[in-house]
Amino acid sequence: MKFLKLFLFIAVISLSACKTAQNIVEQAQEPNLKEMQGGMWVPSELEGMNEMEMQILGSKLSAKDIYDTDAPSIKDAIVQFNGGCTAEIISGQGLILTNHHCGYGAIQSHSSVENDYLTDGFWAKDLSKELPNPGMVVTFVVSMENVTEQILTGTESLMGPELEKVMQANREKVKKQYNLSRDQKAVVKSFDHGNQFYLIVTEDYKDIRLVGAPPSSIGKFGADTDNWMWPRHSGDFSLFRIYADKNNNPAEYSEDNVPYKPKHFLPVSTDGVAEGDFTLVFGFPGRTDEYLPAVAIDQIVNKLNPDKIALREASLAIMDKYMRSDEKIKIQYASKFAGIANYWKKWIGESQGLTQTNAIEKKRAQEVEFQKIVNEEGLVEYQNLLADFDKLYQEYGEVTQARDYWIEVIYRNVELLNLTFQLYQLERVFEQKGQEAFDQEKTTFLKRAKGFYKNYNPQVDQEIFAKLMYMYDAKYATTKISEQGRKEKWKNEAAKIYKNSKLTTYEGLESILNGNNKNVLQELNKDAAYQLGESYAEKFYNELNPAYYTSKDKIDALQKTYSKAMQEVFPNRRFFPDANSTLRLTYGQVKGYEPRDGVYYMPVSYLDGVIEKYVPGDYEFDVSEKLQELYHKKDFGNYADTNAKMPVDFIGTNHTTGGNSGSPVLDAYGNLIGLNFDRVWEGTMSDYNYDADICRNIMVDARYILFIIDKYAGATHLIDEMTLVNPKK
Ligand code: ARG
Ligand code: ASP
Repeated sequence: MKFLKLFLFIAVISLSACKTAQNIVEQAQEPNLKEMQGGMWVPSELEGMNEMEMQILGSKLSAKDIYDTDAPSIKDAIVQFNGGCTAEIISGQGLILTNHHCGYGAIQSHSSVENDYLTDGFWAKDLSKELPNPGMVVTFVVSMENVTEQILTGTESLMGPELEKVMQANREKVKKQYNLSRDQKAVVKSFDHGNQFYLIVTEDYKDIRLVGAPPSSIGKFGADTDNWMWPRHSGDFSLFRIYADKNNNPAEYSEDNVPYKPKHFLPVSTDGVAEGDFTLVFGFPGRTDEYLPAVAIDQIVNKLNPDKIALREASLAIMDKYMRSDEKIKIQYASKFAGIANYWKKWIGESQGLTQTNAIEKKRAQEVEFQKIVNEEGLVEYQNLLADFDKLYQEYGEVTQARDYWIEVIYRNVELLNLTFQLYQLERVFEQKGQEAFDQEKTTFLKRAKGFYKNYNPQVDQEIFAKLMYMYDAKYATTKISEQGRKEKWKNEAAKIYKNSKLTTYEGLESILNGNNKNVLQELNKDAAYQLGESYAEKFYNELNPAYYTSKDKIDALQKTYSKAMQEVFPNRRFFPDANSTLRLTYGQVKGYEPRDGVYYMPVSYLDGVIEKYVPGDYEFDVSEKLQELYHKKDFGNYADTNAKMPVDFIGTNHTTGGNSGSPVLDAYGNLIGLNFDRVWEGTMSDYNYDADICRNIMVDARYILFIIDKYAGATHLIDEMTLVNPKK
């Protein structure tokens, strides 16, 4: 449990803003810095506890410096990048910084054999050379407002559909109260498992151009081997620019558009970082589940993760075997491999971390205390919560696992079956929307399919099919058959399907889809792969998904009550609403950690480590001649550390998750000192159980970014448009 034990700054707390103030006074003693870290806080509500904690940790910022709707504030420099990652504005001309892995798709889309920007990097010499990215958006948060009371007005005695109806009406009313400008959108979003509601007003800019990217040997240095690991040596950054119309408003791409003039942009600090420095990460974390009961964590560690890990492991092993023996397959499968390996590796680290920190036992102990207080205080409405969880999670575990198997095998790993699933949707378009819609969809489908087949190898896929379908069948089939027999069965089935199906090549797919419509569906339904795929698609829609959601709805309802109950039962505990892809702030310090007994990891890595890891020609650890030369000449410009070494990455105690990639890391004054991109292996459990002892986020040092732009790429015009500062010097 995290009790606040603060003694400083008590005078500055407004008592009304901080419900725990009384308690702080009572427990006044040494500030416990560890217990002030963790949490993803709502930027419009920093006054009071968060502002105070940040200042104790070293911040010189006020809540209003960070979030203000009446004057420019730091939040005006932060955007959600293309729906998933985060980016930040670092110049008065709309220059934005995000991760290389966030810009990867865009960089890839501009690449060709002649201009291979993934391999060689890309640097636009001037504005006219910056590359547009159709469909890309960045989203600004104009304001966030807690509207819980308004949403719940008149709902007190209601349940079920009636409750939904009134809440929906309240939502619409709240949205209408806000005067939206032409380009703004308003949504009411649920926080804290449905206990809180916020009105969030956003604004999208749609003309986003690629400005610069280092080669993958820098931006993705260490690739999958180093992913989720420290020490790390990756320069995971890329640069884009927001364009606006002549009035600085959002506009679709046009040659007439001009660089966006931001309300605020982040100065870039060249001071560097030292252990213990204050850090603030501001971005769009996707999802956390910090308040699950022990039974849920137990299920993740002992039931759900192991099978998902095993399925991916089997698939990755087959891909790896082919990638090693065939250059073409290596290129075709590199991105798919990285995608599947990313969470495979995360789940392993997560389970280990949860086990090593005794997360289940700790939660159990908390629950014993929870129950004790509930009983003592006669909180009857919470009396059976934990027992109900135990019951519900039994069923939930089964339906989740069944759905996980389907998702991993049919959707994520066997490409041919994923294709049949998409074709199944296409068939529904014909049934539900008629011929014209079908024809349209079919054309886009074929276009997309071209890209798919470019990177498709039926032999690799057939082997994955045989292995994963065997595993799926072994888990759920009722037929009695020996292990060997079952393996043989799926091997033969795979051979038959991949031989007979037309869907293993683009020409085959085209020959089916380009008949007249009646024929198309008939032909499709004759296809061996489609027949199998269709039965699995139907299983998903008719069986697995409904069962999952029926069970999940019950769990969600209980979790809503549990979350509320915990806040009542443990009023001194710090509570933040779980991440939900909205703008949040987290803070901590630059800090090393002890991954295991007798080992201490330093918080900063250097270019020396890049050279140490260098494997000539390797797809993960190659180092370009240019970078080696800069290293050997110590040609680091003004960007070296006080020890004359070139810093690369650093770690801190900031509580981050997927979606925080590309988030700015700010110093005590709000200057950019780093760029968030990952977490450490031992701490990936932070999605369920943040622990300041071992959870670390990984950031690129701002000085490495400047060094690469300036000394490596020679793109000094980009440095010139930034504002470099060094407040410590
Ligand atoms: N682990 C980081 C995140 O979850 C980085 C992923 C990109 N890198 C990779 N090798 N797949 O997004
Ligand atoms: N790498 C993640 C991202 O892309 C960040 C994380 O999970 O720590 O958002």
